[in-house]
Amino acid sequence: MSKPIIIAIDGHASTGKSTLARTLAQYLNYVYIDSGAMYRAVTLFAIKNDLNTEQIVHHINDISITFDVSGQIFLNEENVSEEIRGMRISERVSEFAAIAPIRQKMIQIQQGYGRDKGVVMDGRDIGTVVFPEAELKLFMSASPEIRAKRRFEELKLNQDVSYEEVLKNILDRDDKDSSRKINPLRKANDAIIIDNSNQSKEELLQGALELVEKALN
Ligand code: DC
Repeated sequence: MSKPIIIAIDGHASTGKSTLARTLAQYLNYVYIDSGAMYRAVTLFAIKNDLNTEQIVHHINDISITFDVSGQIFLNEENVSEEIRGMRISERVSEFAAIAPIRQKMIQIQQGYGRDKGVVMDGRDIGTVVFPEAELKLFMSASPEIRAKRRFEELKLNQDVSYEEVLKNILDRDDKDSSRKINPLRKANDAIIIDNSNQSKEELLQGALELVEKALN
């Protein structure tokens, strides 16, 4: 059996990073960590406790975030996997993800999950900051309109939301995530770009699996 590696998947909002990361983790029998879910959980904590971006800094030690083996996320022992997906969270998460002490704490937790390797993690700064030594780094992108259409099709099943709102949120998050001072979204020099605007899910997975096989050997 090959030695376990770290696979870092970064990229813009709603590019299918999580789906690809989860599928690769299942295929390899690796741990899957959705780092965006962690920033979403922090945002949920802030909203629930009515804390703004200055106040939350004093409550960092009151926040515990863990994952179970199936990738469900727990905020202070409560499963919040569904609740963090709503637009209410998407609209504010980039604000809270830009706060240095919050990023420090999340990065520490993320690096803990990578200590024994055998992990697939997706996010914005995984290949650049969290695991700069990752054996395989992918950087995913697709046109904003295609991403918004895909996300809208998912969200409209259980939320009252328009395509225009979803597109605006995606453009807004791309802008905030790329322009923040601390650990902005950047492609690592050694990351491989995957533009899946015109790729089916099967083509995307096939291409990624070939890259994984190369990285393992
Ligand atoms: O992956 P996602 O869209 O669920 O992430 C939600 C937000 O969290 C995203 O807009 C930016 C932030 N994020 C981050 O700053 N760093 C990461 N490693 C992952 C997500």
